[in-house]
Amino acid sequence: MSSVKVGLLGLGTVGAGTVNLLERNNDEIARRAGRGIEIIAASTRHPERPRGCSTEGFRVTRDPFEIVDDPETEIIIELIGGYEPARELVLRAIDNGKHVVTANKALIAKHGNEIFEHARSKGVAVAFEAAVAGGIPIIKSIREGLTGNRIEWLAGIINGTANYILSEMFYAGREFGEVLAEAQRLGYAEADPTFDVEGVDAAHKLTILASIAFGIPLQYGNVHVEGIGHVTREDVAYAEQLGYRIKHLGIARQSEDGIELRVHPTLLPERQLLANVDGVMNAVMVMGDAVGPTLYYGAGAGAAPTASAVVADLVDVVRALNVDPEHRVPHLAFQSTALSDAPAMPMASVETAYYLRLEVADQPGVLADITRILGNSGISIEAILQKEPAPGADHVPVILLTHRVFERQMDEAQAQMEALDAVQGRVTRIRSEQLQ
Ligand code: HSE
Repeated sequence: MSSVKVGLLGLGTVGAGTVNLLERNNDEIARRAGRGIEIIAASTRHPERPRGCSTEGFRVTRDPFEIVDDPETEIIIELIGGYEPARELVLRAIDNGKHVVTANKALIAKHGNEIFEHARSKGVAVAFEAAVAGGIPIIKSIREGLTGNRIEWLAGIINGTANYILSEMFYAGREFGEVLAEAQRLGYAEADPTFDVEGVDAAHKLTILASIAFGIPLQYGNVHVEGIGHVTREDVAYAEQLGYRIKHLGIARQSEDGIELRVHPTLLPERQLLANVDGVMNAVMVMGDAVGPTLYYGAGAGAAPTASAVVADLVDVVRALNVDPEHRVPHLAFQSTALSDAPAMPMASVETAYYLRLEVADQPGVLADITRILGNSGISIEAILQKEPAPGADHVPVILLTHRVFERQMDEAQAQMEALDAVQGRVTRIRSEQLQ
């Protein structure tokens, strides 16, 4: 049987990694897919630049639309990233009856509903394993491996750059900015690194995970997003003294009240497995009602790990080329006509424990005022830590851990604490989870 002809959009890090992987494992991939897979064309904005793969076996063009319109290509791999022109290219490929494999989390999180609807109407597949957690087969695990379960919640370290920064702050006591510059140099960070540190990249990925876990339409706009910019190395050290690590998590949970979708720094007990996922590694914990807690760990970025997911999707699409579209694995795990309309929960109704750090005047009665405000708001304190003032400083840090409360209770208490004359500036607050 002739090989399947593929067009590749984007010859950057992941594009080159995909070319190399297809070449290196060519025979094994063909044995698995049942047919050979051949890249016949690739697009890049800079064909003249040296790159990390050979381009000998295919034509290289500046024009991605030329590839999408080429009647010879059956599958398009989109590795350009970003919203546009990726969206236009993918929709046009679908219009042309081509299957699509993409690593583009921003595209799927924001335009996935439109893209999947379009793909269904044309009877083609859109595969996106590489969009979440790089090489970890987390989409396949949830969508197929856990099909028998009602997924209760999932929580993941799904941005390697943020995890690298927090790990370096923890192990080496390094400052945020210095570590970010290194992550950029190492090639982990997004083209716009604010997507990493402000939580946008993790929110894109969480949007996708939540949809396939709970059978809800993609709803990026409903994710509560906080980055790691306000976490200091002192917070990392205080959390350690209390027996916790700070990780940047994406958390999705379904309850009778609706769906929680949130991305924020989180204190985790130091013995929790996720608390020990360090550096650029990613990990996702998924709780199914039948299987219990499961954990998926691996490289969340990089040329070869992401190419691993791209090629897995390619093989899936090749295997399904002759399958009736109605009987393929649904894009969002649940049949498109059976998606749930469970509402996204407002953050005010979300319940978590808290780490609080206040800078307070070193004078009598301040601690009493703070504990009174918390007590009056129905917030119970689990631990308290008061540090010595730094030499010459007239303020001291006070660190509190609370029991679980609704976010609205903490909002009120925080406003009252910040109104005290003895409290300097904003209260730093970081949510804390046990993940049990
Ligand atoms: N910038 C992303 C990260 C790359 O740091 O995890 C993979 O999506």
